Amino acid sequence: MTAIDIQESSEPRPSEKLLDVFEERMTDIWRRGGFDVPDPAGTARLVRLLLDREGFGPTATVLSDSGVRAEWNRVFAEERSDFLARWLGEHLHGPLLDVLGGDFTVGRALLRHGLASQALTGCERSYAYETDWSQLPFPVHDVPPDLALPAGPYACLLMSTVLHHEPDVVALLDAAAELDAERWVVVENCLDADNDEDFHLYVDEFFNRCLNTFEVPCVPQHRTVDGWRDLLGHYGTVTAEQVRRDVPGMPFPYTLFVVDR
Ligand SMILES: C[S@@+](CC[C@H](N)C(=O)[O-])C[C@H]1O[C@@H](n2cnc3c(N)ncnc32)[C@H](O)[C@@H]1O
Repeated sequence: MTAIDIQESSEPRPSEKLLDVFEERMTDIWRRGGFDVPDPAGTARLVRLLLDREGFGPTATVLSDSGVRAEWNRVFAEERSDFLARWLGEHLHGPLLDVLGGDFTVGRALLRHGLASQALTGCERSYAYETDWSQLPFPVHDVPPDLALPAGPYACLLMSTVLHHEPDVVALLDAAAELDAERWVVVENCLDADNDEDFHLYVDEFFNRCLNTFEVPCVPQHRTVDGWRDLLGHYGTVTAEQVRRDVPGMPFPYTLFVVDR
């Protein structure tokens, strides 16, 4: 059996060009401050070779045994969340609904950065994460299949890197619009000349199979900055747009959209 046969049939096959970009981005992420990975370039080369020859499963084992997986997840939980709370904080005010807040590390960072816990509500699909919501200092509600979001009132909605995961993003935005919040703050990793749909999908799958075990399939719903602005423009006026290329742990830029309604 060749190394290629070892890969599960559903696993996306990365091209050499895609792996070149991912290797470069891993080196860059690990060289930035706050990341404890010895020999970033050598480790990125090893991970690239494993991904190419063995696929996600064996790569996940090596990342786990070497401590890189734990360090990457720590950076997501601590550094990415603090970065987002600092960046988004000035655009957000309570009462706030964190829409599909994942493990709520961003919500918790917002509290550390001054948002009152009474001003925050979260929602997430209850099957999606293992986080014990009862331990959080703010209420979290289940999001049912019909996407009915918990009733407000809310001044702001936060949708942080959720929209590109939705097979029917318009259904989620329509549900968000029902809540009558005057502002939406949206963060997306967008398509551009250096980050095409294949790259975003591959990295989404890498995160879900090598850094955590999220089993919902990833969907090709990434859009360009223009594409998101056009879509969000149906729901309000996009009053601010900012790009950050230095989000801790992330191998692509994030774009922030403020939508006033
Ligand atoms: C990257 S998490 C973002 C969580 C949180 N808003 C944050 O910024 O930390 C993506 C969200 O999309 C949802 N989702 C749906 N399909 C997904 C998939 N295939 N992979 C990852 N997340 C997915 C998750 O439930 C989660 O709420």
